[in-house]
Amino acid sequence: MTEIIIVKTEEEAGQIYARRTADLIRRNPDTVLGLATGSSPLAAYRALTDLIKKDGIDVSRVRGFALDEYAGLDPDHPQSYRSTINRTVVEPLGLDPARIHVPNGDLDTIKDAGRQYDQSIEDAGGVDLQILGIGTDGHIGFNEPGSSLASGTRIKTLTEQTRIDNARFFNNDIDQVPTHCITQGIGTILKARQLVLLAFGEGKAEAVAESVEGGISSFCPASALQMHPHATVIVDEAAASRLRNRDYYKWAYANKPSWQSI
Ligand code: F6R
Repeated sequence: MTEIIIVKTEEEAGQIYARRTADLIRRNPDTVLGLATGSSPLAAYRALTDLIKKDGIDVSRVRGFALDEYAGLDPDHPQSYRSTINRTVVEPLGLDPARIHVPNGDLDTIKDAGRQYDQSIEDAGGVDLQILGIGTDGHIGFNEPGSSLASGTRIKTLTEQTRIDNARFFNNDIDQVPTHCITQGIGTILKARQLVLLAFGEGKAEAVAESVEGGISSFCPASALQMHPHATVIVDEAAASRLRNRDYYKWAYANKPSWQSI
């Protein structure tokens, strides 16, 4: 099953992600990280930055693949996911920018970009640990409700809800939010060896409950995590508030023996 960890703060969640990721990089300097943008992973990236600096971990060979990019937005635009990943991950962690990939949203080449992106992930040996946020409509990456659970990286149309949610990054003006994107598919995401989904705040509670305790359905793309053998969902109390088995998850994590992996 998916492991559910209920934490008090985003910082606590960030530290769990940071410890796992740092352990992976220590064991394998060629680790391939799956990267997400948005608000949810920010504390995790900060915690990882601190740990890497404190322990002097060598990240010069780490590679990374972002989940998604807006279609037709200049990569130099401050809100492009290329710029966001540079600002929030590559620069603070001191990663080699040449080893960090973001889907190419250039409209002239976007038709083939998805297939090529999936191929480069495979050529890199696959993603070791994919960090994920979740949309209020249950999306992961930009796989909106109805996305095929077997999908590869491709062009998608954003829902109005996602554009409303993301308008905060575009001067609160929904008209500035692109209408299309290129996103890793759900099938692509499921190929990562380990998934860590982070969700905070009451606004995510319904999506989290439907993903974790509802049926597997393309209508709730994050429910696909139920099919992954090594998925962890880390949520604060507010995001966990609609989980029926909340007390069980808390007990299981608080009493987890060292010999139990997941
Ligand atoms: C970001 C991404 C999206 C976000 C989701 C939640 O690369 O793929 O799925 O993770 O929209 O966004 P936040 O974290 O801003 O609430």
